Amino acid sequence: MIIGIPREIKSNEARVAMTPEGVKAARIHGHEVIVETSAGALSGFPDSDYEIAGAKILGSADEVWGEAEMVVKVKEPLPEEFDRLREGLVLFTYLHLAAARELTEELMKRHVTAVSYETIELEDGSLPLLIPMSEVAGRLSVQVGTWALEAPNGGRGVLLSGVSGVAPGRVLVLGAGTAGKNAIRIAMGMGARVVVIDIDPVKLRYLDDIYHGRLTTLIGNAANIEQELEQADMVIGAVLLAGAKAPRLIKRGHLERMKKGAVIVDVSIDQGGIAETSKPTTHADPVYVVDGVVHYCVANMPGAVPVTSTAALTNATLPYILELADLAPLEAARRSPALAKGFNTYDGALTCEGVADAFSLPLGRLPL
Ligand SMILES: NC(=O)c1ccc[n+]([C@@H]2O[C@H](COP(=O)([O-])OP(=O)(O)OC[C@H]3O[C@@H](n4cnc5c(N)ncnc54)[C@H](O)[C@@H]3O)[C@@H](O)[C@H]2O)c1
Repeated sequence: MIIGIPREIKSNEARVAMTPEGVKAARIHGHEVIVETSAGALSGFPDSDYEIAGAKILGSADEVWGEAEMVVKVKEPLPEEFDRLREGLVLFTYLHLAAARELTEELMKRHVTAVSYETIELEDGSLPLLIPMSEVAGRLSVQVGTWALEAPNGGRGVLLSGVSGVAPGRVLVLGAGTAGKNAIRIAMGMGARVVVIDIDPVKLRYLDDIYHGRLTTLIGNAANIEQELEQADMVIGAVLLAGAKAPRLIKRGHLERMKKGAVIVDVSIDQGGIAETSKPTTHADPVYVVDGVVHYCVANMPGAVPVTSTAALTNATLPYILELADLAPLEAARRSPALAKGFNTYDGALTCEGVADAFSLPLGRLPL
């Protein structure tokens, strides 16, 4: 199969869908790989690395989309890319179609086989192509939170680790899933006093066990959240209700009872955010202040660390890329129920239940 890797064109998106190592693997499996010039530059991979790995470098996106049988990307196609979508093309990328009606209709109208990273689901319900980006965002959340806590950046001027004779800062993590656990790991490593709140006692028990009680775990209820918000220097929002908007755990009224210059890093902003006062921001202008509380609400946090994020993403996607290319899409879906869940549109039909529900469109079936 001819696999095409175009350069990402979404604002501030520096990741690339395949590393030179991935190209090598695809070549060993007998596939041709074509890469748009400079596609990997911001992730630390010059064209020459791809050429050494066996890829052909093409000068324009049109050539890559035109020649490829399967286009592998990071972000969804933007409207200026719609004309490149054509019948029979396999598109493998993050799509988030439940929030993108126009794109959904384009993919159907143009009979694209659209396989979405985020709906690939293992038997235990986990989402293997979302986990790596939640790991990145969770770890990064504390890093950006400490920056925002510095006085020149609007924060209250607390050094999270404290120093000898001075208490460390206090971090409240809402949500003990992938992002939350990774935020806790970094905050604990920095010596902060950390409290985590989740509604799932099993997750809290696990964290209590591994941190030998050095981490405070609290069950999610309004009283615990209110009490901890008042004491926190930094709050990390990392809750997820699968397929739904994030619950608004921080109300506007809570802010005035929080410390002035405290920081909320709302990782869940891509699902609407956990604070009533959260609204999406960008890497170019990441923070704003409401009632004295600094809000960081960047919806594509992993884009800030493309070298790490590209490696983490492609580690997870490569086995699926190879399955799709080796077997051809339908046979790959037949053999892998996890991959089959990734198929969002096929031959003009909408084949993902969540997307069909979101737009009240008829649900088609994959001819497996
Ligand atoms: N901003 C970004 O760039 C970025 C990047 C990656 C992930 N995310 C987002 O981060 C969020 C967390 O993702 P994840 O992979 O860690 O999810 P996850 O499913 O692993 O964990 C979510 C946790 O939230 C808990 N939860 C649900 N409702 C709760 C409530 N009312 N109170 C307390 N806890 C509650 C669940 O029990 C679970 O432990 C998601 O919204 C995800 O889309 C954002």
